[in-house]
Amino acid sequence: MEHMDKRTDYCGNITTKYEGQEVTLYGWVQRVRNLGNLVFIDLRDREGIVQIVVNKDSGKELMDIADSLGNEYCIEVKGKVVKRSDVNPDMKTGEVEVYATEIDILNKSKVPPFEIKDDINAAEQTRLKYRYLDLRRPTLQRAIILRAKILKAVHEFFDENGFIDIETPILGKSSPEGARDYLVPSRIYPGSFYALPQSPQLFKQLLMGAGFDKYYQLARCFRDEDLRGDRQPEFTQIDMETSFLDEKGVEDYTEGLLKKVMKDVMGIDLKTPIKRITWTESMNKYGCDKPDTRYEMFIHDLSPIFKDSDFKVFSGAIADGGYVKGLAVKNGAKAYSRKKIDEKADYIKRYHAKGLAWVKYEDGEFSGPVARFLTDENKEALKKEFGLEGGELVVFVADKWKVCCDALNHLRREFAHETDIIPKGVFDFVWVVDWPLFEYDEGLGRWIAAHHPFTMPDDEGIKLLDTDPHKAHARSYDIVMNGDEMGGGSIRIHKRSIQEKMFKALGFTKRRAYEQFGYLMDALDMGFPPHAGLAIGLDRFAMMLAQKDNIRDVTAFPKNASASEPMMHAPAPVTDQQLEDIGIQVDPSFEKSVKETEARLEKMAQEDADQNSTWDED
Ligand code: AMO
Ligand code: AMP
Repeated sequence: MEHMDKRTDYCGNITTKYEGQEVTLYGWVQRVRNLGNLVFIDLRDREGIVQIVVNKDSGKELMDIADSLGNEYCIEVKGKVVKRSDVNPDMKTGEVEVYATEIDILNKSKVPPFEIKDDINAAEQTRLKYRYLDLRRPTLQRAIILRAKILKAVHEFFDENGFIDIETPILGKSSPEGARDYLVPSRIYPGSFYALPQSPQLFKQLLMGAGFDKYYQLARCFRDEDLRGDRQPEFTQIDMETSFLDEKGVEDYTEGLLKKVMKDVMGIDLKTPIKRITWTESMNKYGCDKPDTRYEMFIHDLSPIFKDSDFKVFSGAIADGGYVKGLAVKNGAKAYSRKKIDEKADYIKRYHAKGLAWVKYEDGEFSGPVARFLTDENKEALKKEFGLEGGELVVFVADKWKVCCDALNHLRREFAHETDIIPKGVFDFVWVVDWPLFEYDEGLGRWIAAHHPFTMPDDEGIKLLDTDPHKAHARSYDIVMNGDEMGGGSIRIHKRSIQEKMFKALGFTKRRAYEQFGYLMDALDMGFPPHAGLAIGLDRFAMMLAQKDNIRDVTAFPKNASASEPMMHAPAPVTDQQLEDIGIQVDPSFEKSVKETEARLEKMAQEDADQNSTWDED
């Protein structure tokens, strides 16, 4: 369709292949340098920057226009591409420049609140308020384009493999995925609410019941949960579901998909099959269920070594049914002062650890406050266990199993980062399999499904559902990369009797289970096929491939860390009429803050109109 475009090519593509040609370019002024009889303009578009030259020969009129340009003016340039005498090797277009014959200012720009370049130190709030300017920065343009390339590869993969793209509703009913729902009030049924989907889980299962057999969707999901760098309230899943496949089948398709994305987007040959680790092994070696497998520094269970120790912190914890676990940091003896280690001890308190014991091993000797408790036997055992070579810092946590795991997982990540042992540019995938079916939620004070309530227990687990459900294991799998959860899925329950037992084990009454999920139970009785699936978090995947540390950087219009959007100002109060229509009254105790928000937004709008508007109101 190039002939429809007046533009010859993007600025960033003007290389020697256009030498001697007349070109038409569009873009934004990155920078103007006026040398008196010569003006250089850096013209930028999404593909890069090219240098435009205006000189005395171009005539006074053009010189005046060039001189009047400011940063971020949007302009059209016609000119001739010539080879440069002083090549700029840092620019893709550095071998040429464009001698302008015409410059048309399409729109002027005020001075932007921050410079349009990769490294800026503007506040996040400012960046999000002027997101369209933030998005002009090359690093974000690359990230958003990379995301689009992932989407393209995903669509191609599923299409090539016979999957059908089916959209499922956004206005639905709450399906418990573990987070709080976003609710949408109904006007026609005041007092009733739709829920935005946390995932299309039940719809995709029902599509299997409907015989579509292989489904996929780039599905928008909404979860009202506390935000972190790798979480947004709305995000996109690469969602799939299949009938008649087991774990191997789903894993094969997932690996095929990942392979294609890595190849098409990153040019990387992903080795398959991807390695697998059981949940138990992952917890014991890495202290978590999303192991960073790019480096070793494994966690070791040292309880057998210390069960009779004179150090009561250790032997006491073991006697109480706990563990002593630890890890060895290579070159840590020199890298970590007592003060720094004390800071770590403080840091792991948030994971309920009571303290951090440690020794250093240098020149064949153990030192540090706990060293005097080590018997010769202990020392030999530690050397053997960690393969100590000298120069290590060894840290210990004595506590309940879960506390040891949590604390050492976080320490492991910090130590690896700080001692710089994480290889760069590596994308290390691992399957975490054989999960428990349930986990105990301390906050809620009850058992919840570790994946979701529609996950099939393994054969042994099905039997345990009647007797000891919380010991059951699940037929579920997570795909993890570089220590972050990319996606997860499971074999689903396709028999009513098992689904009922599952709800029962989760503490549902029969009545509540049928109120919420009666339609599913009915469907399972209608020749429902065995089925399985998985969903990958697109935003997280894109974040990892773009090597960003926040998914905001791969999302065009994200929410900030407190779930608001500072450009359009969402969420915002609505009119009394709108509230009346849906039969909702704001709790009077919130009235003051609603009024304040309204007043703040009104004031901002008024100031903007007063200062900047050209609107003549008579
Ligand atoms: P799960 O809840 O594990 O599974 O979600 C799948 C993947 O979605 C991504 N993700 C998120 N990304 C950004 N922001 C969030 N708030 C957020 N929450 C989750 C993660 C996660 O691995 N229906 C099941 C899948 C299935 O069983 O097929 C599900 O939603 O990358
Ligand atoms: P204390 O006997 O409490 O003075 O602790 C002696 C050392 O052991 C200090 O370095 C503490 O940080 C550490 N320590 C205390 N409790 C634990 C624990 N549960 N696990 C590991 N180290 C601990």
